[in-house]
Amino acid sequence: MAVIEIVEGVYKIRGEDTSVAGRRFELVEQFRAGTDGVGYVTVNGASCPGFPERKIRIRCQGPRSYTVVEGSLPVSYEPVKSSEPEGVMSLVQTKVPDAVIAHESDETIIERTRQRFEVLKDMTKAVKEGTVRAMIVTGPPGVGKSFGVEEVLNKDDLFDQIGQRKPKYEVVKGAMSAVGLYSKLYQYSEKGNVIVFDDCDSVLLDDLSLNILKAALDTSKKRTISWNTDSRLLRSEGVPDKFEFKAGAIFITNIKFENVRSKKLQDHLAALESRCHYIDLQMDTDREKVLRIKQIVTDGMLDSYEFEDIQKDEVIEFIMDNKSKLRELSLRTVLKTADLRKSFPTTWKSMAEVTIMKRG
Ligand SMILES: Nc1ncnc2c1ncn2[C@@H]1O[C@H](COP(=O)(O)OP(=O)(O)OP(=O)(O)O)[C@@H](O)[C@H]1O
Ligand SMILES: [Mg+2]
Repeated sequence: MAVIEIVEGVYKIRGEDTSVAGRRFELVEQFRAGTDGVGYVTVNGASCPGFPERKIRIRCQGPRSYTVVEGSLPVSYEPVKSSEPEGVMSLVQTKVPDAVIAHESDETIIERTRQRFEVLKDMTKAVKEGTVRAMIVTGPPGVGKSFGVEEVLNKDDLFDQIGQRKPKYEVVKGAMSAVGLYSKLYQYSEKGNVIVFDDCDSVLLDDLSLNILKAALDTSKKRTISWNTDSRLLRSEGVPDKFEFKAGAIFITNIKFENVRSKKLQDHLAALESRCHYIDLQMDTDREKVLRIKQIVTDGMLDSYEFEDIQKDEVIEFIMDNKSKLRELSLRTVLKTADLRKSFPTTWKSMAEVTIMKRG
């Protein structure tokens, strides 16, 4: 028998899709893609308080949507490809209580974090393939959100780049007006395209932009967006005042939706969230962040610096020793430290104290 912990999945409670991320159940049957195209893992509801005392199906993306926390999986296990119907909301909530983390082994934490990033990659692939229409990715700065998404989109786009066709995705960063958004959505409206709004929070905090996005990502079969006022910009760019949006969208942001103050915006964001898959790559404790850093460095993040092993270790050691003093404990800070280590072989530590540490 195996006990699994759900990383991402929903169960209908009183007719409402409810996230069961973080819950543990006895596994009855591995992930399966159902006949109606919905994927699920079957578990024993009686093994988790508050669930019906029978076999229940947790709807999820794929076999990576849960981890085995006790026992092991049957040896004959073959992952089955999930197919997710359009517009189904699923929540990937990853908050594990600090008290639990304190008792976990390094391996468990590394594995869980790795799995979350695998879910991020799988979902990005699904957006690219058009099985998932949209997702929102949140999490602390510098942990690899943009990297994870772009890695997948770049890989899938290699063919197009070689063939010199127009790339099928674009990453939009920084500020964007509502009319700019409308025009951009038109440019990438074809099936198979993906628009990534990376730290492009102006579109998430503007009334008009949010209305456009809501129309673009609606769960109805046909998603028509229109622009009702005359716009010289749109006319000059040949953008029609109405079009069908068939592409996918990914939002990467540090905004915590629940912390937005304005009630009106909150309602808007909730409407957007309900149209999107939501991945929270929360890593709250320093321990989680440190372990992630170590893992990514082991995987080769600093290879391009061509450091000797000892130099690489020095960089990591410096980060570990000063983790509570850093402005930001993140992969980005490691890269900054590595830059300094490379450029200033003798004075890098004092340089780092000035540039990447908090004052005082
Ligand atoms: N798996 C990885 N392998 C190698 N480098 C990585 C990996 N993940 C992230 N990085 C590098 O770490 C840095 C921070 O990553 P990234 O920009 O993806 O963070 P982010 O979570 O998007 O941060 P922000 O919220 O501030 O935009 C980047 O320079 C990126 O290239
Ligand atoms: Mg980013």
